Amino acid sequence: MIYDSVLETVGNTPIVRLKGFVGDRPGTILCKLEYLSPGLSKKDRVAIRMIEDAERSGKLSKGQPVVEVTSGNMGIGLAIACRLKGYPFVAVISRGNSVERVKMMRAFGAEIVMVDQDPGAQKGKISRRDIELVELAAEEMVARLGAYRADQFANPSNPEVWSTDVAAEIATQLDGPVDAFADFMGTGGCFWGLSAALKRLYPSIRCYGVEPYEAPYYTKTSESLRGTHSLQGGGYSRAIRFFDEDYGKTVDGFVRVTDDEAVEAARELAAKDCVFGGFSSGANAAAAMKLLGSELAGKTVLIVAPDSGTKYLSTSLWDLPEGGSADG
Ligand SMILES: Cc1ncc(COP(=O)(O)O)c(C=O)c1O
Repeated sequence: MIYDSVLETVGNTPIVRLKGFVGDRPGTILCKLEYLSPGLSKKDRVAIRMIEDAERSGKLSKGQPVVEVTSGNMGIGLAIACRLKGYPFVAVISRGNSVERVKMMRAFGAEIVMVDQDPGAQKGKISRRDIELVELAAEEMVARLGAYRADQFANPSNPEVWSTDVAAEIATQLDGPVDAFADFMGTGGCFWGLSAALKRLYPSIRCYGVEPYEAPYYTKTSESLRGTHSLQGGGYSRAIRFFDEDYGKTVDGFVRVTDDEAVEAARELAAKDCVFGGFSSGANAAAAMKLLGSELAGKTVLIVAPDSGTKYLSTSLWDLPEGGSADG
């Protein structure tokens, strides 16, 4: 089959059993490889849905610029969708994110507005204040250009693509019900959309939000914490809009994952199953493993690998000891 453009190739990502990663521990982790997409992340699906819904509703008119705040992956998805559909695209991004994603957006013809991090912030660690600064810059751009703001944090097209297309895909791929789903949350679109749909499909499934250990928002704790983390793509320590609207209906619990646990898991996924994901793939796998090690021993947990490890080659994620691998 010949496709008219890469837009038509988005979706239908495979699910693999993480046999090497789980080893002889009791239970199964199934991982949907969302990085197998033209922009190398799960956000390609969301980007196309947001643009097509905006076209249908008349919120986006022919040739109108599109602006989005992004840690990179949504920007890459939108850069692709906008390039192929004829909209100029401006991505507003914090300087704290990895350079690979910025370079990819530029390659797809996007204009990039880089926003300085809060003084005192660390590169690679995006704080709540950094996100606020990026938001302010985006509002200015929208006003200046008369642009359409895709707004992944509030746009219902984001969770909808998960609760419709992706859930349907998963239902056809699985042999039967899974026991749990765990997902590291940024906008919460993937968690909320998929957990809502999976609960309709498999009523006894348990759904867990994954949060950075050092910067949780929903997990209540009295520990004194750093408040920052390295897990690019989520964990913004602020209320997730989609999530809160349905709070209590789709979430059965939270799992906290440290930076080190996510990094170690990402490296093990690569070394043992040749699944090459980023920090959040590691966070999801580490969370699933924690669940198998406690309340879900012997059960099956579904996760996604949100983006490709190639997007973090410049970071410490892949600074492996020479000649060594994750299992030494
Ligand atoms: C790499 C990565 N992981 C996880 C997430 C979180 O996904 P969601 O926004 O659906 O919660 C994102 C979102 O941008 C991401 O880019």
